[in-house]
Amino acid sequence: MASRGSILLTGGAGFIGSHVAVEVAAAGWTPVLLDNFCTSERSVVARVGEVVGAPVRCIEADIRDAQAMRAAFGSTPMHAVIHLAGLKAVGESVEKPELYHDNNVRGTEVLLAAMDEFGVRRMVFSSSCTVYGMPQRLPIDESHPLGAINPYGQTKLDIERMLDRWADACIDRHVCSLRYFNPVGAHASALIGESPLGIPNNLMPFVVKVARGELPELGVFGGDWPTHDGTGVRDYIHVVDLARGHVVALEQLDSMHHDCINLGTGAGLSVLDVVHAFERVNGVKVPYAIGPRRAGDAAAAYADASLAEQRLGWRARLGLDDMVRDAWAFATRSAC
Ligand code: NAD
Ligand code: WQD
Repeated sequence: MASRGSILLTGGAGFIGSHVAVEVAAAGWTPVLLDNFCTSERSVVARVGEVVGAPVRCIEADIRDAQAMRAAFGSTPMHAVIHLAGLKAVGESVEKPELYHDNNVRGTEVLLAAMDEFGVRRMVFSSSCTVYGMPQRLPIDESHPLGAINPYGQTKLDIERMLDRWADACIDRHVCSLRYFNPVGAHASALIGESPLGIPNNLMPFVVKVARGELPELGVFGGDWPTHDGTGVRDYIHVVDLARGHVVALEQLDSMHHDCINLGTGAGLSVLDVVHAFERVNGVKVPYAIGPRRAGDAAAAYADASLAEQRLGWRARLGLDDMVRDAWAFATRSAC
């Protein structure tokens, strides 16, 4: 089948980007990855190719390198960009706010300048539920007040505002910012998934390391939250559902100016819901101990996912059992 055109995926070798690349290819587009591998492995590129059934092109470059970005756009006409490249560790962003601004915000400026030079007018951007700051009401819809509670969140807000201005400057530009909730899981092939370097920050990779015996126990951040079992509640979404959301957004970009859309399931699950599902589905133990609350955490955060359904015809199909099964299958089949 002839390709429908090339799509540049910045951060395409990362956890989410690798899954988006698979869905983009399945929809008949040619994904072109661009990554500097600062938080991902080069071997991911070949594994994406294995899932797709054909080699996938990857440009090794930093989005802040204007010359390299020009070379990337000069090498192939790009129908659109899916912009996933970014640093995302909240704690690190508090220690190194300038690095986060430079990488995420200035990197996006350089990317947009290169797109302008080559007449590329469409972008899907990896935004985050972090733009809502501390939840003021639940579920969180797109009209919830915005605010950053850490430098990482500020970069996502700054980029959304930059994309407002970019879209406003020319009627032909089309942007969709997808505000992800908590992506977890892995591709059903177990060839691609999440493998953060070092001690993980997020719940699911931490649970995986405990189940593998690499860490002694999960510290649960608070058992006295006003939730159904006292532990923190979040909206976990399977990364393959999330990746499909990018393709439907890509295909409807021309009817958008700059739309901001939540990608979540709409369901709130607690830390212990995740732990118990992980143990039941995978037949492994996840020792845990309830400890103090983590600074800056909210009791609960989950999406009103109805705009994605109305606007994109998208809704999550996979549930918690799929998420924990696929996360474990990836962890036990890969060498990481
Ligand atoms: P990831 O770290 O696995 O992937 C990010 C990729 O971007 C990596 O491959 C990294 O090497 C690359 N990258 C970073 N800076 C770059 C630069 N300057 N130039 C080129 N490549 C660069 O993270 P992920 O979970 O796949 O996240 C992808 C995007 O989604 C990020 O923008 C993140 O902020 C956003 N997001 C993630 C989550 C989540 O929980 N995983 C939630 C909301 C939003
Ligand atoms: C989930 C739940 C913790 C680890 C992060 C980012 C946010 C956005 C979404 C990118 C919470 C609890 C966790 C552990 C625990 N990402 N937990 N023990 O806090 O929703 O947000 O992902 O844009 O910016 O901050 O996700 O996975 O860290 O935590 O008890 O060792 O698990 O308290 O209730 P969170 P998380």
